[in-house]
Amino acid sequence: MPQNAPAVALKALTEWWEEMGVDVDQAEMKALLANNSPITTAQNSAPSQPVQPEATEQTSNQPQAKRTSRRNKAKTTDDWVSEAAASAAAATDIPSLKAAIESFEGSELKKLCENTVVYDGVIGAPVMVLGEGPGPQEDRLGLPFVGAAGQFLDKMLATISLDRKTNTFISNVNFWRPPGNRNPDADELAICRPFVDRMVDLAQPKIIIASGGVAAKSLLDSKTGIMRLRGSERPFTTAAGTEVPMVPMFHPAYLLRRPADKSRAWRDLLLVQARLAEMGISL
Ligand code: URA
Repeated sequence: MPQNAPAVALKALTEWWEEMGVDVDQAEMKALLANNSPITTAQNSAPSQPVQPEATEQTSNQPQAKRTSRRNKAKTTDDWVSEAAASAAAATDIPSLKAAIESFEGSELKKLCENTVVYDGVIGAPVMVLGEGPGPQEDRLGLPFVGAAGQFLDKMLATISLDRKTNTFISNVNFWRPPGNRNPDADELAICRPFVDRMVDLAQPKIIIASGGVAAKSLLDSKTGIMRLRGSERPFTTAAGTEVPMVPMFHPAYLLRRPADKSRAWRDLLLVQARLAEMGISL
């Protein structure tokens, strides 16, 4: 058996579980993959030990994780929102904002993730898509909308000549994958919000597509569901006062489950196209 076979098998199994919606403790997986010792085989090991939670405490990054968790307990969500706002305000362009988000330590979700997922696409593009947050594939690759929903999003955008290589910027309202693919909660969204606002201030899109109910409700600070928010343009304003028209749209993952609603999403895409044409932007 190749030397790294258990690691390869563990990674494949992890991905399979995640595809099925099973929550996987990424910190523990990282520790297992780094050590490779708790998954030794009968031929090359002393009697195998069951994997105890303490095993992760032997890893090199654990002291850092402990410090972070003690610090996080001492700060409230409001403290972290203020810290995020200061950090976002100090960023002068999208790359420095990305670095600020990646080095931000105010998210409990971050400890469970492989990557901070910030953006993909073209800085300064006329169209910005904001989804709800990374899933397993996005967390693994560190890029937004790269799984099945992302591939369908690309197809939706292509119908009106939009793509992430030439004219579209893609991000999310939350930068860290919530465990078990649950929706991000209000605190998790609040902590990310100053960064999202700053992203809009710096990227200056002409129009924003809010992809799905979580993103639309959070950005518009609304309790109204996506069924009623979609279908028309909504004004969006950042904390610093940047105003951008927003078109709420069904999330591509929802459309994959409910293809009957694709015609309504198509109408929303036509709305985006018409609005861009009105602004003199040809795609
Ligand atoms: N769904 C989202 O909303 N965003 C992603 O990046 C991936 C899936």
